Amino acid sequence: KCGGEFSTPYEFDLMFETTVGAGSKKKISYLRPETAQTTYLAFKRLWEYARRKLPFGVLQIGHSFRNEISPRQGMLRLREFNQAEIQFFTDPQDRSAPDLDDVASIEIEIKDKNEKVFTSTIGDAVKNKVVEIEFLAYHLGKAIQVFTDMGINPKRLKLRQHREDERAFYSSDTWDVEYVSDVFGNIELVGISDRGDYDLSQHMKHSKVDLNVSFDGKKLIPHVIEVAYGIDRPFYCVLESCYREEDERIYFSFPNSSAPYIAGVFSLMKKDGIKEKADEIFKNLKDKGFFVFSDHAGSIGKRYARADEIGVPFSITVDYETMKDDTVTVRQRDSKKQVRVEISKLSDYLN
Ligand code: GLY
Repeated sequence: KCGGEFSTPYEFDLMFETTVGAGSKKKISYLRPETAQTTYLAFKRLWEYARRKLPFGVLQIGHSFRNEISPRQGMLRLREFNQAEIQFFTDPQDRSAPDLDDVASIEIEIKDKNEKVFTSTIGDAVKNKVVEIEFLAYHLGKAIQVFTDMGINPKRLKLRQHREDERAFYSSDTWDVEYVSDVFGNIELVGISDRGDYDLSQHMKHSKVDLNVSFDGKKLIPHVIEVAYGIDRPFYCVLESCYREEDERIYFSFPNSSAPYIAGVFSLMKKDGIKEKADEIFKNLKDKGFFVFSDHAGSIGKRYARADEIGVPFSITVDYETMKDDTVTVRQRDSKKQVRVEISKLSDYLN
């Protein structure tokens, strides 16, 4: 577009190189580009831990590092990022998903490896062999449920199968759940891959340790279905999905499970014992395990606005009526509806 010249192509290593140890005996090492390999390294011990049965899954949450050529787009393309990756070790002859019914009715737009776009349920995608591995299809459905529960708008989610020419070297089939962002376009949130026996075979070859296992009367190398969640990206998508501008009001409509606090506890006035009563309610809810905060500064309207801005679902206000009848006002964030609740029933109400 700019009419510039292309430079000569050259090899570029996406991994960060570093050294380990002091002095001349320093060893070249690399920062991990995925959490997955740390799981494969421990495979023998994990197999014992799983009582030598397939399938079993191992989840690692942690940092990964990639020397991105253009680290841009806020928290979407980072050189240091967070992943939650599950390696499921499976019997290559049995990759069924007994709980497929839990996700079978989820309907979603799909782009397959030939770039054909259509809408299907997860159940039909399995029946019609669009997704060939039932176990993989089940986890696509689970990911959609997880993202929806977190507060990501499910209407913005899509499934995309990687084309033959873009799949990673370790994979024979990869599917992404993508989110369509207003700001950044399509974003991959989780990648689910059939890694077969690629990784264990490589570890076997280079370590000379036999990683075959005996299972169901067979000697085999387990085949891996990897469910690789990003953490930073879904977090961003929750923010984008829940952001609301309404008249003068700006707020996040987080589901209760994703909200930073479940409730704020406010005193209408600091005098006449009202603040002390609010402090007592705050402490009581906290002791019961509720994630609550208290705020006594500024007008009640300002305090509601501050709670709305960080997406707190409930605001509890102690006022003069409380001092007479032991009830408080509970305001719901999205509807702004206010109800009177007895203090003794507050925890039931929040539950
Ligand atoms: N382990 C797969 C990925 O990092 O995307």
